[in-house]
Amino acid sequence: MGWFKLFCFLGGFVFIHLVHGQNQSGFISIDCGSPANSNYSEAFTGINYISDAAFIDTGISQKISAINKGSFQQVWNLRSFPEGIRNCYNISITQGTKYLIRGTFLYGNYDGLSKLPQFDIHLGVNMWDTINITVMSLYFFTELIHVPYQNYLQICLVNTGLGMPFISAIELRPLNSSTYVSNFGSLALSYRVDVGSGTAYRYPDDVYDRIWLPYSENNWTNLSTSDTVTTNNSYKIPSVVMSTASTPINVSAPLKLSWYTGNATSEYYICMYFSEVVKLKANQSRSLNITVNGKHAYGPFTPKYLETFKVYSKSILEIAPKYDILISKIENSTLPPIINAVEVYSVIDLSQSRTDKQDVDAVTNIKSTYALQRNWEGDPCLPRAYSWAGLNCSYDSIKPSRVTSLNLSSSGLTGVISTNISNLVMLQYLDLSNNSLTGSVPDFLSQLQNLRVLNLEKNQLTGTVPTGLIEKSKNNSLLLSVDANLNVCGSGSCKNKNNIVVPVVASVGGLLILSLIVAAVLWGLRRKQKDENKAESNIQTMTIESLESIQQHFTFADLIRITNNFERILGKGGFGNVYHGYINDTQVAVKVLSLSSAQGFQQFQAEVKLLMRVHRNLTTLVGYCYEGTNMGLAYEYMANGDLDAHLSGKNANILSWETRLNIAMDAAQGLEYLHHGCKPPIIHRDVKTTNILLNENLQAKLADFGLSKIFPTDGDTQVSTLSHVAGTPRYLDPEYSITYKLTEKSDVYSFGIALLKIITGRPVIERSHENTHISQWVRIMLDKGDIQNIVDPRLHGDFNANSAWKAIEIAMVCVSSTSTNRPPMSEVVVKLKECLTSELAERGDESNYSVEMVNMNMITKLNPLAR
Ligand SMILES: *[C@@H]1O[C@H](CO)[C@@H](O)[C@H](O)[C@H]1NC(C)=O
Ligand SMILES: *[C@@H]1O[C@H](CO)[C@@H](O)[C@H](O)[C@H]1NC(C)=O
Ligand SMILES: *[C@@H]1O[C@H](CO)[C@@H](O)[C@H](O)[C@H]1NC(C)=O
Ligand SMILES: *[C@@H]1O[C@H](CO)[C@@H](O)[C@H](O)[C@H]1NC(C)=O
Ligand SMILES: *[C@@H]1O[C@H](CO)[C@@H](O)[C@H](O)[C@H]1NC(C)=O
Ligand SMILES: *[C@@H]1O[C@H](CO)[C@@H](O)[C@H](O)[C@H]1NC(C)=O
Ligand SMILES: *[C@@H]1O[C@H](CO)[C@@H](O)[C@H](O)[C@H]1NC(C)=O
Ligand SMILES: *[C@@H]1O[C@H](CO)[C@@H](O)[C@H](O)[C@H]1NC(C)=O
Ligand SMILES: *[C@@H]1O[C@H](CO)[C@@H](O)[C@H](O)[C@H]1NC(C)=O
Ligand SMILES: *[C@@H]1O[C@H](CO)[C@@H](O)[C@H](O)[C@H]1NC(C)=O
Ligand SMILES: *[C@@H]1O[C@H](CO)[C@@H](O)[C@H](O)[C@H]1NC(C)=O
Repeated sequence: MGWFKLFCFLGGFVFIHLVHGQNQSGFISIDCGSPANSNYSEAFTGINYISDAAFIDTGISQKISAINKGSFQQVWNLRSFPEGIRNCYNISITQGTKYLIRGTFLYGNYDGLSKLPQFDIHLGVNMWDTINITVMSLYFFTELIHVPYQNYLQICLVNTGLGMPFISAIELRPLNSSTYVSNFGSLALSYRVDVGSGTAYRYPDDVYDRIWLPYSENNWTNLSTSDTVTTNNSYKIPSVVMSTASTPINVSAPLKLSWYTGNATSEYYICMYFSEVVKLKANQSRSLNITVNGKHAYGPFTPKYLETFKVYSKSILEIAPKYDILISKIENSTLPPIINAVEVYSVIDLSQSRTDKQDVDAVTNIKSTYALQRNWEGDPCLPRAYSWAGLNCSYDSIKPSRVTSLNLSSSGLTGVISTNISNLVMLQYLDLSNNSLTGSVPDFLSQLQNLRVLNLEKNQLTGTVPTGLIEKSKNNSLLLSVDANLNVCGSGSCKNKNNIVVPVVASVGGLLILSLIVAAVLWGLRRKQKDENKAESNIQTMTIESLESIQQHFTFADLIRITNNFERILGKGGFGNVYHGYINDTQVAVKVLSLSSAQGFQQFQAEVKLLMRVHRNLTTLVGYCYEGTNMGLAYEYMANGDLDAHLSGKNANILSWETRLNIAMDAAQGLEYLHHGCKPPIIHRDVKTTNILLNENLQAKLADFGLSKIFPTDGDTQVSTLSHVAGTPRYLDPEYSITYKLTEKSDVYSFGIALLKIITGRPVIERSHENTHISQWVRIMLDKGDIQNIVDPRLHGDFNANSAWKAIEIAMVCVSSTSTNRPPMSEVVVKLKECLTSELAERGDESNYSVEMVNMNMITKLNPLAR
């Protein structure tokens, strides 16, 4: 039935052979709490472990109470964290490599208190796992498969008030990037079992040092072979793992693997490994068929003798509270089903972006410059609950967090004011008061455009206050205080040898009010962030297409190959160029993320998340690259480019009225799907004709979800967006720019504008007509009763007036200035469908007639002969 939780008994591993000096290329093996600079080769595995001292500043080295020499040496020591809520390791790694990352924990009553702790482990700013130590003498491990996009990895232990965090070992193993591919997100190990075995295995049997735990069930029987089972792929499943297997005792019964997710909305990947371990007789056969929760997943297939066959769910399993995997024999198989090994992974989103790099580097350098003895570890701003003491940050769901306030008052700072501060360009509040800072007040402080409060009181600064600061202080854009310094002068000469306060003296009241404003702004941002987090978590409940998709994860080298070294540019998108390419023989459009794009990374994530999940009338994402700073997305190639090019006359072919209606219909259906087919609904945010793409059959699909946001449905369908107004201004809901409230109705407005453009072929803003907006122009024409001239003159009247009238009507109601008057997209789709039917009814049968006409012509030609 249910599978056991992951843990190992001390000494539960049996290693038959000791192979030293095998290739551990790229392994990072850290024994936490072992003496600084020490290293050793572990006796059972031959893996070389090093001390953790070089990777962390905090915590205390401890030893477990009784060492069992039959256990791995890396768990004999541990590092515990009595101080600080969050303590982080910082480990240099190879950027863009796929790693298996494992944390190992053995409490072993190191503190003599017999108190079992529970705490969290984070990977950078992302939650990784909750470690619940439930048995004193067992060791627990948690594993991820993840591709870090930086050249270092931060692993943080977080005290959640349920006991003191500790860690025994950290192990990183590079994997072949073609293994364990997930469409989105990283993978967290749920189960990894070697069926029918009595022993656990890891390195050196497993070259990737995966830990395989033995597994069998009461009504299963064991099979094994002493021959070598070969694995002919990059997963390199060890022969010892593949050489044991199980079949059901009841030969007609299926093998059943089940696990519960309870309430969790986790998504899973499963890898099953099969190999025939019995030499079959001529009249014997073993063919299997796999179902997942009653749905056919794979098969029938026949495991080959002594060869590993891998069945991997190429995309996420459908979300369910319980998973039942049934491996059955097919009817004419004479032998029962078999299974040799199984891995189950849940999808974990580790993509939350960290604080802006420039800010992180600046505060990290400030920490080292002043040798600050604070617990400044991990990301400075994130997660918010653990942001560094003395810092305030801006939080925004699209842009990375920025440091907006730095308070190093009374921190024993010596030396000059660090130039690193000049890199904190978003700084609004800087307090360096009550330290022993020397030297002058540097001019770079006046270059900080956002600085509103600068407190340099009670230091030993000398010299002249830069004129830039004095100017700002005079026009009240800066509250400056240099009281109680050795000798600081204003722009004039130093007349007085005593402490001089030159700039406009800010009253205490003024300072307070300004701080309140800053606090209010931060509070506003904070509230917004919270709402959006809530929305984010709802994404899990969206409908997902199940197994067998073609989505793929590419390396940057693949992208170079696919695009033939970025040979042909198709266009420039919101965050980078789009290139033409080929995957095998299929054309694709590859969007490459340009690093200079400030919002790039977040947009990239948003797009991947959404595109992997939505399909209908939306450009399909066929793959992505996410390798360090190189990121790209491969979409299905839309041969006819964007609709705007067709309407603006850049493309010689004039789209017929019927084609236009079909395109409008396709786009409306795409939008309707986002609004009503996705849970929670998705607002596109940037509906416009350049984001409607056409394939070779002039079928339309919506593109560019970079600006899309998920928003909650629980009665509150409004998202308040403070700082960033998304979308293209001319298509933007006028209500939105007043209320800053965004609903699906904003998309309906933008769609209405796009529809007007489809009908008229005119630009949204007519420069030659006093910048008249397209909706105003149509309104004027309607008032004049001039419907004929609204429709694109290039159609030369070749359209049905009735359907044109209907289309204009739909567009105009969509662009109503009050959102409540706009119809939902479902209604727009219905109306457009009617419009299309009336067009087809009036003229559509023409195509049928024309066929008949051809026939009639032939008859006419043949007639003379018949006569
Ligand atoms: C085998 O045992 C499991 C529980 O251990 C049970 O769920 C399953 O139905 C059994 N199968 C057969 C064929 O008896
Ligand atoms: C270890 O493997 C790496 C890559 O597989 C190879 O480059 C290196 O030469 C190997 N080292 C040894 C000692 O075999
Ligand atoms: C291991 O320690 C020895 C000295 O004890 C040192 O020479 C060697 O470089 C260390 N190896 C590693 C990988 O740190
Ligand atoms: C972590 O290590 C990386 C690479 O060694 C370094 O660039 C970075 O500054 C370190 N971060 C912190 C917070 O120490
Ligand atoms: C941790 O384990 C204990 C003992 O099994 C259990 O009572 C507790 O509910 C667990 N906590 C969590 C959060 O799973
Ligand atoms: C299969 O092997 C495991 C491990 O050696 C053992 O615990 C189990 O009893 C065996 N099952 C049968 C049916 O022999
Ligand atoms: C590996 O697989 C390929 C293709 O399935 C096959 O041609 C080759 O013989 C296999 N190699 C081994 C060693 O099994
Ligand atoms: C990864 O596996 C693929 C397929 O087995 C192989 O072609 C490639 O060389 C491997 N890469 C590395 C770095 O071992
Ligand atoms: C599911 O989880 C939510 C929040 O974690 C909780 O409120 C709810 O009661 C849970 N439902 C069940 C059936 O466990
Ligand atoms: C495999 O299973 C599916 C779903 O249960 C079933 O439709 C199909 O007929 C099975 N195939 C064979 C060969 O039994
Ligand atoms: C049944 O077995 C025969 C011979 O082994 C095979 O040709 C046939 O495809 C099998 N039928 C099914 C449904 O797999």
